[in-house]
Amino acid sequence: MKAINVGLLGIGTVGSGTFKVLSRNAEEITRRAGREIRIAMIADRDIEKAKKLAGGSAIVTDDAFKVASSPDIDIVVELIGGTTVARQLVLEAIKNGKHVVTANKALLALYGNEIFAAAQKAGVIVAFEAAVAGGIPIIKALREGLTANRIEWIAGIINGTSNYILSEMREKGASFADALKDAQALGYAELDPTFDIEGIDAAHKLTLMASIAFGIPTQFDKAYTEGISKLTREDITYAEELGYRIKLLGITKRTEKGIELRVHPTLIPAKRLIANVEGVMNAILVKGDAVGATMYYGAGAGSEPTASAVVADLVDVTRMHTSDPEHRVPHLAFQPDAMSDVAILPMSEVETAYYLRMRAFDKPGVLADVTRILADLGISIDAMVQKEPIEGEEHVDIIMLTHRTLEKHIDCAISKIEALAVISGSVKKIRLEELNRN
Ligand code: HSE
Repeated sequence: MKAINVGLLGIGTVGSGTFKVLSRNAEEITRRAGREIRIAMIADRDIEKAKKLAGGSAIVTDDAFKVASSPDIDIVVELIGGTTVARQLVLEAIKNGKHVVTANKALLALYGNEIFAAAQKAGVIVAFEAAVAGGIPIIKALREGLTANRIEWIAGIINGTSNYILSEMREKGASFADALKDAQALGYAELDPTFDIEGIDAAHKLTLMASIAFGIPTQFDKAYTEGISKLTREDITYAEELGYRIKLLGITKRTEKGIELRVHPTLIPAKRLIANVEGVMNAILVKGDAVGATMYYGAGAGSEPTASAVVADLVDVTRMHTSDPEHRVPHLAFQPDAMSDVAILPMSEVETAYYLRMRAFDKPGVLADVTRILADLGISIDAMVQKEPIEGEEHVDIIMLTHRTLEKHIDCAISKIEALAVISGSVKKIRLEELNRN
């Protein structure tokens, strides 16, 4: 059978990895796909680099739009990143009847609804396994492997850079700033580290997983996003002393009131498997009503791990290339006319447990004042520790873990606690999830 022709846009880390994996495993990939998958065109601003990589096997250009409109190309692989030119290129490729494979989570989190609708109309596939958690086949698992289930919740470590920083802070006592510098030197952090450390990259990925899990449109603008840049070594140590680890989690959950969609630092019991995912590795827990809790672990970034997902999509698209568009797996797992409009919950309505740290004068009645405020709002305390005062200081750190309550209740309690004369500065709040099987 005639080879399927691929146009590769961008030969950075993932693009060159894709080229290498496709070449190295060409024979096995052909046996799986049923025909050869050939990179026929490459577009990159660095023509010389592209020529060197192609070694004469592909047409090289610096005009990506030429690839997106070439009649010889069947699948366009978008690995340029960003949401401006990449969006135009993807829409152009779709308009020209080409299937698209992309690793671009920001693009799909922000413009997924537009792109999937255009693809649906044109009868082409937009595949994006590489957009979430690099090499872990989590899109395939959610969209196909767990299709019997009513998905209840997903909780994932889906940003390797922040996980690396948190591991360094916990294991080596490094400060946030030093651990970030390290991550940048090792090439883990995105070009703009804000996306990694402020939870934006994780929220892009979470947005896509939530859409597939619950059959809802992509709604990145409704995701709550809080990063790790304000975490201190003290909080990591105190959490550890109480049997917890702090991880940046992306959590999406179906509740009676709506869908939770949130990224934030989270205390999780140290004994959970996911709490022991260290360094740049990613892991995602998915709870389905039939299967129970399942976990997916692996490299969330990197040249060949991400290429593994890109090539898997290329094989999938190749297999389905000639199939009737009506009978393909829907982009977001649910049929486009059967999407749900269930709302994303505002954070004030989210229910979870909390870690609170406050600095108080060490004198009689302080704890009574604080616990009275919590009790009046119906918030129950699960554990409490008062640290020894540091020599020469008048204040002591008090750490409390609460049972589950609504975020609006804890926020109200915090403002009342902060107003107490015996409390110095602000109260630190970190959410806590047990992540048990229920
Ligand atoms: N920068 C991301 C991370 C990888 O640190 O996980 C690409 O999404």
